[in-house]
Amino acid sequence: MKTLAVLGSTGSIGTQTLDIVRKYPDKLKVKLLAASKLSPLLKKQIEEFKPKYVYTAKKDSLEYEGITYFYGDEGLKEISDLEIDLFINGIAGIAGIKPTYYLLEKNKNLVTANKEAIICLGEILKDKYRFIFPIDSEHSAVYQCLLTGRKEDVSRIILTASGGPFRNKPIEEFESITVEEALKHPKWKMGKKVTIDSATLMNKGLEVIEAHYLFNISYENIDVVIHPDSLVHGLVEFKDGTVTANISYPDMRIPISYAISYPERWEIGANHICLWEIGKLEFFKPDYNKFPLLKIAKEVGKKGSFYPIVLTVADELAVNEFLEGHIKFTDIPVLVERVLEKSNFKDPHSLEDVISIIEETKHIFKNITMET
Ligand SMILES: NC(=O)c1ccc[n+]([C@@H]2O[C@H](COP(=O)([O-])OP(=O)(O)OC[C@H]3O[C@@H](n4cnc5c(N)ncnc54)[C@H](OP(=O)(O)O)[C@@H]3O)[C@@H](O)[C@H]2O)c1
Repeated sequence: MKTLAVLGSTGSIGTQTLDIVRKYPDKLKVKLLAASKLSPLLKKQIEEFKPKYVYTAKKDSLEYEGITYFYGDEGLKEISDLEIDLFINGIAGIAGIKPTYYLLEKNKNLVTANKEAIICLGEILKDKYRFIFPIDSEHSAVYQCLLTGRKEDVSRIILTASGGPFRNKPIEEFESITVEEALKHPKWKMGKKVTIDSATLMNKGLEVIEAHYLFNISYENIDVVIHPDSLVHGLVEFKDGTVTANISYPDMRIPISYAISYPERWEIGANHICLWEIGKLEFFKPDYNKFPLLKIAKEVGKKGSFYPIVLTVADELAVNEFLEGHIKFTDIPVLVERVLEKSNFKDPHSLEDVISIIEETKHIFKNITMET
């Protein structure tokens, strides 16, 4: 029996994780559920999974007997002391940074989808990244492909991108893209922030930086290819020219369950691939003109230091502004670039440094949006 902590249990990653627990009640037990607030969904999950511990970011009055309740920043430190086999981090965005930090600091087994934390803590915690099992589908794919050879024989890793809903849209029409259109991802059903990032291709840019830190591979050896079918999730090329690919229908339960069951693989009700029904696989070069954030992210990654943190925060704020209808789709990369231009900080060495860069970036972002 493996015990699990599900952070972000009410979100897309969290609910899919709980689906796997429902299938394997004899193998998995949820000990902790965590979300931002005590929503009706979290209450339902507490009643169904009867965890020993519950965490919410905002303090609430929790009225369940036999449950220890944690909240706020202090609560995050406390939950990272709990004896739980696997901590699954499905918290969205920069809110996932502190739990990631505390859990890695305590050498806990961390299964994470939260790329923002991996990126923002990359400069200060990369030595601890061996404790991380990725569930971002592309990184899970690369992780699995890497198992087919020796690390020293790897020449390149390739991340695939669906291209999002606007792959074939003429650039002249980008200005009028609505929130509703941007939230319609052709292949994946995900939370709002990551869905908008997929539409701008920033998600792939963030994933390149995530891959750099997770697999300790230089940016020159990380490629992105557009693959609208979303069947090949990631590839690893070895020195002799052999390429190993990870293929499955797009279903986040596959990388989530693999991270939980590793080294076993469990039947989870996913559709199995039928190659003659698929017929062919298509791949294209990314269009950096239409999707400048992918290029910006790669450049920022190469610069390292505080830049990836600024990029992550500026993007999250710009996406929120877009979702709230305050800016246009095409303003997202413009704002991100302007914030990057105005940022200049010392190299981060600690969590406090990272938090201070985040706060300063928020300040710069606010000033820029007030000016415009
Ligand atoms: N969804 C996918 O298929 C997918 C695929 C690859 C990678 N990812 C990555 O996985 C992460 C989660 O994405 P998602 O799509 O699952 O997001 P989501 O559906 O928006 O869910 C976010 C979860 O985070 C919780 N949360 C937000 N702030 C929190 C805080 N301060 N403390 C504790 N919990 C907090 C939310 O709780 P409330 O409900 O209470 O607000 C919710 O449970 C992101 O980093 C994303 O890039 C997602």
